[in-house]
Amino acid sequence: MKIAVLPGDGIGPEIVAEAVNVLNALGESFTLEEAPVGGAGYEAKGHPLPDSTLDLAKQADAILFGAVGDWKYDSLERALRPEQAILGLRKHLSLFANFRPAILYKELASASSLKPEVVSGLDILIVRELNGDIYFGQPRGVRAAPDGPFAGAKEGFDTMRYSEPEVQRIAHVAFQAAQKRNRKVTSVDKSNVLETSQLWRDTMIEVAKQYPDVELSHMYVDNAAMQLVKAPKAFDVVVTGNMFGDILSDQAAMLTGSIGMLPSASLDKSNKGLYEPSHGSAPDIAGKGIANPLATILSAAMMLRYSLGKAEQADRVENAVKAVLAQGLRTADIWSEGTTKVGTQQMGAAVVAAL
Ligand code: NAI
Ligand code: MG
Repeated sequence: MKIAVLPGDGIGPEIVAEAVNVLNALGESFTLEEAPVGGAGYEAKGHPLPDSTLDLAKQADAILFGAVGDWKYDSLERALRPEQAILGLRKHLSLFANFRPAILYKELASASSLKPEVVSGLDILIVRELNGDIYFGQPRGVRAAPDGPFAGAKEGFDTMRYSEPEVQRIAHVAFQAAQKRNRKVTSVDKSNVLETSQLWRDTMIEVAKQYPDVELSHMYVDNAAMQLVKAPKAFDVVVTGNMFGDILSDQAAMLTGSIGMLPSASLDKSNKGLYEPSHGSAPDIAGKGIANPLATILSAAMMLRYSLGKAEQADRVENAVKAVLAQGLRTADIWSEGTTKVGTQQMGAAVVAAL
């Protein structure tokens, strides 16, 4: 099995190095091949997503991605900016299913802004559709309003679209993920108002018939936003479209309080995937050796589970992370009184030792 390793910019190379050490410590015969991406791709090959990097990503079974971006590239034209690399990879590889688990480790309970009794033990999974919806729907633009009370005035417009097959494929992903968890799917839409959402809901109900062991429920997005802060533990898998998922996944992530802890996966229809921490390249702390590598290490665990068929190894990595937290080791972003502050490399080495 081949893993493309794309460290990128800022803290990307520092945190990816620790995740690579963890993968190497598992004793599996993975082939890891590294390539430049983002600003590093621009420096090396003149493009944020060089052809050779894209080719490697296409050949690989899975991609471990650090982060891209740095203020020093702000003056480049949009097509050459580092952030285009991640958008290009999602598009070229048809990565349509975004998985964002929100897990609150009991050792980090005080990091959440919610009361312990509401949030302790939280372990939910947001599945967000990534290739469709209002972000990509045509037509879109700015024009003179053709009608209505503001006819003739400048107006912006976008189009929310989902085709039935697009909803079906994300539905299958969500139900299959739920089968590996607590067998509950909450589909989030706005079908009381939107036609797109009515098709979404009808399609979810149809696909659910193939998964009689999974319980499907529906929630309007405004209510879902309330329930996520009121009773987040009532959820297991939440499946939703691109825009609602963008907002709800960030909201759910923050219930756990710490961006340095949050992994993510973006999968295609064959479960090939790109795995990356939810945070960016953190140029403010790059090169200081203080970044938290756990989000990237936990992303590697997701890769083992979803793309490489190594669920037991994924469990081992996740348990090693819990063990290290139980030992009281903390990078600066999750440090609190009474715990031991460590750097990026020490944290990575502790996870390897715990394995
Ligand atoms: P950011 O996530 O890089 O940083 C936000 C804050 O969180 C900073 O204070 C940073 O120091 C801290 N932080 C992030 N990750 C951390 C970690 N592992 N350990 C400890 N602290 C951590 O977001 P920001 O500052 O908005 O963006 C910085 C650059 O990253 C920009 O160029 C942006 O475009 C890019 N970016 C890239 C993403 C990607 O590669 N997928 C995603 C988000 C942003
Ligand atoms: Mg977002």
